[in-house]
Amino acid sequence: MQLSDFSSKTIIEPFRIRSIEPITSTTMEYRQNKLQEAGYNPFLLQAKDILIDLLTDSGTGAMSSQQWAGMIASDESYAGATSFYKFEAAVKDITGFKYVIPTHQGRAAEHILFSIIATTGDIIPNNTHFDTTRAHVENSGAEAWDMVIPEGKEAKVLHPFKGNIDLEKLHEAVTEFGRERIPVIMMTVTNNSGGGQPVSMANIREASKIARAHGIPLFLDACRFAENAWFIKIREEGYKDTPIIDIAREMFSYADGCTMSAKKDGMANIGGFLALNDPVLAEKCRSLEILTEGFPTYGGMAGYDMEAIAKGLYEALDEGYLHYRVRSIEYLGEKLLAADVPIIQPTGGHALYIDAREMLPHIHPLQYPAWSLTNALYLLGGVRGVEIGSVMFGMQPDGSEKPAANELVRLAFPRRVYTQSHVDYLAEVVIESYRQRQRLSGYRIVQQNSVLRHFTAKLEPVFSQS
Ligand code: F0G
Repeated sequence: MQLSDFSSKTIIEPFRIRSIEPITSTTMEYRQNKLQEAGYNPFLLQAKDILIDLLTDSGTGAMSSQQWAGMIASDESYAGATSFYKFEAAVKDITGFKYVIPTHQGRAAEHILFSIIATTGDIIPNNTHFDTTRAHVENSGAEAWDMVIPEGKEAKVLHPFKGNIDLEKLHEAVTEFGRERIPVIMMTVTNNSGGGQPVSMANIREASKIARAHGIPLFLDACRFAENAWFIKIREEGYKDTPIIDIAREMFSYADGCTMSAKKDGMANIGGFLALNDPVLAEKCRSLEILTEGFPTYGGMAGYDMEAIAKGLYEALDEGYLHYRVRSIEYLGEKLLAADVPIIQPTGGHALYIDAREMLPHIHPLQYPAWSLTNALYLLGGVRGVEIGSVMFGMQPDGSEKPAANELVRLAFPRRVYTQSHVDYLAEVVIESYRQRQRLSGYRIVQQNSVLRHFTAKLEPVFSQS
């Protein structure tokens, strides 16, 4: 008798593991001491004291044997290295942009772009600026305007593309201020600060039309372009049968350039680039690159970094990989929802976001509920997430404080690193923090910097009378 084929319900990790890195369990008492020593700032913990590290998906992924092979065979010439040309060819092949400017990571591309393109009084629209993007925009003297669609701000509203930019608002801004004050329109794919939510092809296309009608360049913040392309494939009509790489190419075709952190969908531990079509702007960017990053055929990267990215960009576009990646985050989401933990829905491409404002209404926004929950996850289970709330975004350019739009804890998944049992464990830790939520207290900042304060601030718990 012939067996009939079947499709399994389990989506397995589409790789074998042949190099491992031990992780160590610690006691709660140990973690309490470590957190106190770190000024109650998880950024200041030592990684060895963490069991599951979901601080970021940036530069934390596992590389493939193909990437390592490329790295060993790299060309480390200062100028004109073969590794650069492989990197450049991959970027051009996927993005279609004419000029590729390598940088040591994403924010270096932002630094170069905004130093040149923006100035005091300018406005930069974006669906939602990531913190480094906002900081570079503001550093140039310009204002960073977030204009994600209203659904994108509602944690529980189900919408397939909650990262979309509000086209009406964009149109209004562009009509009122024009190219004189809007030197570039940015779109972040996927929308990291808004919950890792994707942007639809239709939305990119329409934003592009608005930009082009006014002669304003549109740039993608393309860190997670492959994950965004996957969501387009599974959620947007007409793309089900389109290869991911062609979806990515179409996304880039509506833009005039991009900034990229190769530490995300470049599948590398470090690196990035700025890619664009305007030759005059490219020349100016190159001049600044030489000053701040290095010669234009390495821009702050080693030859082996460029090799890793040249391969990684294609590996990120692998459908089996994207399916497994997005599904593991969705799987965690299902477990948390079943236990009533408030999360941003649907789950995002690289991360799951817990809504700390809803979970901890007893903590005042300026006593940082999301920060409190982040610390609780570490204390309870050795898990490190990151606050995306009022510590990260609450400080205003004039030094005053305002509650951020959201109080989120992001659990970002390193690429190809954790397995399903890690995810099961994670779910247990988060659900336990939910069970004990009334015991969580707020925090106050006792020491801080004026820029990107969350990286270095020291805090202390504020215990209420009860
Ligand atoms: N843009 C977005 C949307 C990002 O998520 C990041 C980094 C950057 C730009 C800057 O890139 O780190 O290479 O300089 N995000 C990391 C994160 C840090 O954890 O989400 P970078």
